[in-house]
Amino acid sequence: MHLTINQEEGNQTAPLAFILLDFNSEDLQFLFAILFLPIYIVTMAGNILIIILVVTDQHLHTPMYFFLGNLSCLETCYSSTIMPRMLVSFLSGDRTISIGGCFAQLYFFGYLATTECCFLAVMSYDHYLAICKPLHYTMLMNGRICVKLIAVSWITGSFGINVVIFLVSQLTFCGLNKINHFFCDLIPVIRLSCSDTHLVEMTAFIVSSFGILPPLLITLTSYICIIRSILRISSATGKQKAFSTCSSHLTVVACFYGSLMIVYVLPNVSSLNDVKKLLSLFYTLLTPLVNPLIYSLRNKEVKEAVKKTFRRLHRNH
Ligand SMILES: *[C@@H]1O[C@H](CO)[C@@H](O)[C@H](O)[C@H]1NC(C)=O
Repeated sequence: MHLTINQEEGNQTAPLAFILLDFNSEDLQFLFAILFLPIYIVTMAGNILIIILVVTDQHLHTPMYFFLGNLSCLETCYSSTIMPRMLVSFLSGDRTISIGGCFAQLYFFGYLATTECCFLAVMSYDHYLAICKPLHYTMLMNGRICVKLIAVSWITGSFGINVVIFLVSQLTFCGLNKINHFFCDLIPVIRLSCSDTHLVEMTAFIVSSFGILPPLLITLTSYICIIRSILRISSATGKQKAFSTCSSHLTVVACFYGSLMIVYVLPNVSSLNDVKKLLSLFYTLLTPLVNPLIYSLRNKEVKEAVKKTFRRLHRNH
């Protein structure tokens, strides 16, 4: 197989499957498996625990926890579109993925990542209202608005990715089938096509900019207002506590958006390929792992709910 495709090769038969070249190192496969399997297990366990708590505990039936529950729901799906496939290839050495599987991964990843941006924006807005407008909070964030915001987040994510997937499905794939990535991400996949990819790349750029920048702006504005009001708190311990919660949220949000922007909004030059591959680990592995930890398990109400659930389980035995 040739690395470049020219006109004469245009009529080569379409590949039956793609091959994911994850980290290009046979020797380290096992090490990656040992590293990533626990990450996946902890991610799933943490997020599923939060879903169970939010659904079963009456005390957690507030907008903030509905957002969290829905975010955890999203993270379990999000992690599961990428990690199991990757773990299988680390453990078995089989790196092929069917064309259908590849498109499914592309679709669900795009959909869930956009939805995640919306959720992070909605949650920071919710924090903003709770901290900066405490007197009007219950009025501004009532049940109806909360359901609307959640519905809008789940629906918005699907618009852009539908257009992009439609355009990708129109492309012809000829001889090349090696994807230089650990999952079927948009740019590495369309690189394999032998049709003109300008329209898809342009659309993908516009869609990802619209998916990333407005939620990022909302998130940043909310946190700036939050930090300004924290600085006005007079008690030192109160200030410190609020600040530590806020800074951990900000760190995760910054890692998520920062890595997304570098990968999707910066130009597609080949010198950035490996950096982008590495940065993808931030938003594919790290965010779903860390979100449940920082948003809830450090939180007093959630700790209470966990204790109560375990006590109940204990009593039943
Ligand atoms: C998601 O949000 C809806 C609407 O507020 C809520 O009824 C539902 O319980 C939430 N789901 C989870 C898993 O928290």
